[in-house]
Amino acid sequence: MSKSSHITWHDLSLSKELRREQNGHHSFVIWFTGLSGSGKSTVANEVAKRLFDQRINNYVLDGDNIRHGLNKDLGFSDLDRKENIRRIGEVSRLFIDSGHVILTAFISPFLEDRQLVRSLLEQDEFIEVYIKCPLEECERRDPKGLYQKARDGLIRDFTGITSPYQEPVEPEITIETDLYTVEESVEQIIDYLRLKKFI
Ligand code: ADX
Repeated sequence: MSKSSHITWHDLSLSKELRREQNGHHSFVIWFTGLSGSGKSTVANEVAKRLFDQRINNYVLDGDNIRHGLNKDLGFSDLDRKENIRRIGEVSRLFIDSGHVILTAFISPFLEDRQLVRSLLEQDEFIEVYIKCPLEECERRDPKGLYQKARDGLIRDFTGITSPYQEPVEPEITIETDLYTVEESVEQIIDYLRLKKFI
């Protein structure tokens, strides 16, 4: 339930379509989802560089950074993760409205929460990319030492260990980062965007 019932929505005179036309590219979100350590941020940042080189306005949001600012009041309970994703969905919508490509790298473990973001947007504005990597491999990589801490009981509600990850059912793209290099993964996404004539 909204707490602000006496607020009206202002139609903006500069439309999303006008901004897209001036930019010369579509605006949309590339929504990366997957376990911690699967490679979401790495792939997202490399895709961002490729888009930047093509003069495509873009911006990356990732869990570790956003949780230092906008979402620093949130933890890792199911409810907090839900709110984390809801806010990122709304921020994505603003970026899309402003004509940008937005890349989000959040575990976003719950189907329902990702579905909610999809439903906020137009059909051609949400590209779900499942960064698929077996838990054993993420745990072997353990880039931040968090899996070890979770195994030692030092972190509660850790995704894959003591908190669930629900795999996407029909993601637009699936990338298996234990089988492909970062370059190959980036190529797969760029090919998709070209095929759809988004860029
Ligand atoms: S989400 O589940 O709400 O989407 P988000 O992507 O924002 O998670 O944050 C995940 C990052 O926070 C991980 O990559 C990891 O570095 C860190 N982290 C700290 N505690 C946890 C935890 N309990 N579960 C998962 N990730 C955690």
